[in-house]
This record gives sequence, C-alpha cells and structure tokens, in this order.
Amino acid sequence: MSFSNPSTDRLLVTGASGHLGRSVLAHLLDTLRIDPARLIAVTRDPAKLAGLSPRGVEVRRGDFEDPPSLASAFAGASRLLLISTDTLDRPGARLAQHRSAIAAAKAAGVKHIVYTSMPDPADSPIPFAPDHRQTEETLAASGLGWTVLRNAWYFENLAMSLPGVLATGKWVTSAGDGRIANLSRDDCARAAASALASSSAASTVYDITGPAALTTAEIAATVSDVLGRPIELVHVSDEALVAGMVAAGLPEPMARIWASFDTATRFGKFAKVTGDVEKLTGKRPQAFRDFLAENKSLFLPAPAVGAKA
Ligand SMILES: NC(=O)c1ccc[n+]([C@@H]2O[C@H](COP(=O)([O-])OP(=O)(O)OC[C@H]3O[C@@H](n4cnc5c(N)ncnc54)[C@H](OP(=O)(O)O)[C@@H]3O)[C@@H](O)[C@H]2O)c1
Repeated sequence: MSFSNPSTDRLLVTGASGHLGRSVLAHLLDTLRIDPARLIAVTRDPAKLAGLSPRGVEVRRGDFEDPPSLASAFAGASRLLLISTDTLDRPGARLAQHRSAIAAAKAAGVKHIVYTSMPDPADSPIPFAPDHRQTEETLAASGLGWTVLRNAWYFENLAMSLPGVLATGKWVTSAGDGRIANLSRDDCARAAASALASSSAASTVYDITGPAALTTAEIAATVSDVLGRPIELVHVSDEALVAGMVAAGLPEPMARIWASFDTATRFGKFAKVTGDVEKLTGKRPQAFRDFLAENKSLFLPAPAVGAKA
C-alpha cells in the first residue's frame, strides 16, 4: 500500500524545538529538500522556533500533557514523527504522554507514525526501557502504520562524562568488555527525516546504530589518541559505580539510570551494528574517531576560571 499523493502529504515533527527535532527539520528542509509548505513543526513553545516560519514551515503549539492542544496541532498531517519526550522525573508520565500523542494522531487522521525508541527495549536493565517497549506495543496495536527507530545512544552523551574523565585521567566503568554502537545525533536525525519523508506505509523496526560497536577500552583509546590525554580504565561493579556517582553529588535515581547504561552495555544490549542508517539515508553513519576529531570542544574540560587562553 502506498499513499495516493506522497508529494503533497503533510509531514509533522513533534518535539520540534529539541536537539533532535531541530536537526530533523534541518534535514527535511536542506538535505531532502522537502517543500516547506508540507512541513508542520509542533512544540510546546512555538516562540523557540520563530526562525522556521519565515522559511515557510507551519509551527504549531502542542503538548502531550494537554491532549486538547493536540487535535489542532495534528490536524491535516499524514505522517508524524513522534519524538520520545525527556519526561523521566515522574514514573509512568512519559508513556502516558506518548499514548496521548498516538491517540490524538489517530483521531486527527494521521496514517503513519515514526517513533524514536531505544535499542532492544524488551528485558532491559535500563529503568526507562519499559516506556519505549510499551510505546512500541501501543503503536503496533493502534491500527496505524508505524516505523520504529531504535536509536542507539548518541556520541554527544559522552559530553556528560568525558570532561570529568579527561580532568582526572580515570574512566570508572562497570561496562566490562561490552560493546556499544553509538552514533551522532545528526545521523539519527537524518535517518528520522528520511523515515518520515518516505512514502512507504510498511510497519518496520529499524536499528539505528553507528558503523562499529566499541568497547569502553576502545572508546577511551580513541579519545586519548585524538585529544592527546591519557585515560586509565577503572573497572568496578554496578553498585560501586552508583555509589561513586552519588558521592560525587548525583541524585541516586539519576546515578542508577547512568549506571544502567554500563550494565546494559556489559549485557550486550547495545552491541548490535546494522546498516539501517545507510538503508534509510543512503549515507554511512559517521565513525566515532571522525566525530571526535570534528567536535573536540564538546568533550574537553572547561578551562579553569582565570586561566590564560
Ligand atoms: N539516543 C540517545 O542517546 C538519547 C539521548 C537523550 C535523549 N534521548 C531521547 O530522544 C529524545 C530526543 O532527543 P533530544 O536530544 O532531542 O532531547 P532534548 O533536546 O532533551 O529534547 C526533549 C524533547 O522532549 C520533548 N517534550 C518534552 N515534554 C514534552 C511534552 N509534554 N509534549 C511534547 N513534547 C515534549 C521536547 O519538545 P518541545 O520542547 O519542542 O515541546 C523535545 O523534543 C529525548 O526526548 C529522549 O526521549 C535519546
């Protein structure tokens, strides 16, 4: 089955003012050259996307916590990219948001939803994995067409931990020899834009991964090589990793989430490498070494106050 007139179907991006949403819109406009009149950008705060309206993109307000706002936000769209939200502070809230969005999309006449999930969300040690698994199940039961993009972790996430690693020279990990197939957020966005703009109505799962799965030792060696700083790996248990993060001031629930990424890596949950990014976009995703070389400043520790440039 294909849509009758794909060149005029309207494509909608939710969460359009987030990092991924902005990048998806940039790829729709500048990489895929989609007619801006076909695009609808939905965000809780349209003022943040003031730059899109002059380019001809329709910007609408929509909040998954405010279901009535979604009827007008989603009206007229054929395909919708549902960007998973960052609501992790209230148990169950994110799944409820996603379910509201799916119900509202169906009621508004949307035919196909593309959803940003996570790797292998079933039977995962990651506390928020059930949000993704149950959103995937809700989509499968919705009667709509769907595309699930199981996005691997972004290289950019390392910006949270690498400055500390570089400052101390020590990388404390419970990931063991587990491998992780990270990729850049931009490659995730390119894949999402392509999936949204596709005229395929088939319901499919794509594993959106980087071109290689690296161990923490291999990632650390690449960082040392490209940034010129020595890094010693310190292997600890999951509980010791949580305790260390809590001692450093992280709230325990957050420390448990971060540590669960290492546990999942050790269990092989992030090790899969696929060609799905290239299948969707025609372009091989960027390798970690190349990303690092292009984005050194993201990862270097901030210079000490008063330090000379
Ligand atoms: N693969 C990874 O490594 C990774 C890393 C971090 C996060 N993620 C997941 O991927 C998503 C996109 O990543 P990102 O880097 O763009 O994250 P981000 O910049 O933190 O964006 C958060 C997103 O959540 C949306 N949102 C929050 N509350 C919402 C609500 N009530 N209704 C509708 N939308 C809501 C925001 O939309 P508006 O502000 O425009 O309304 C925005 O798109 C995240 O939200 C998270 O689920 C993945």
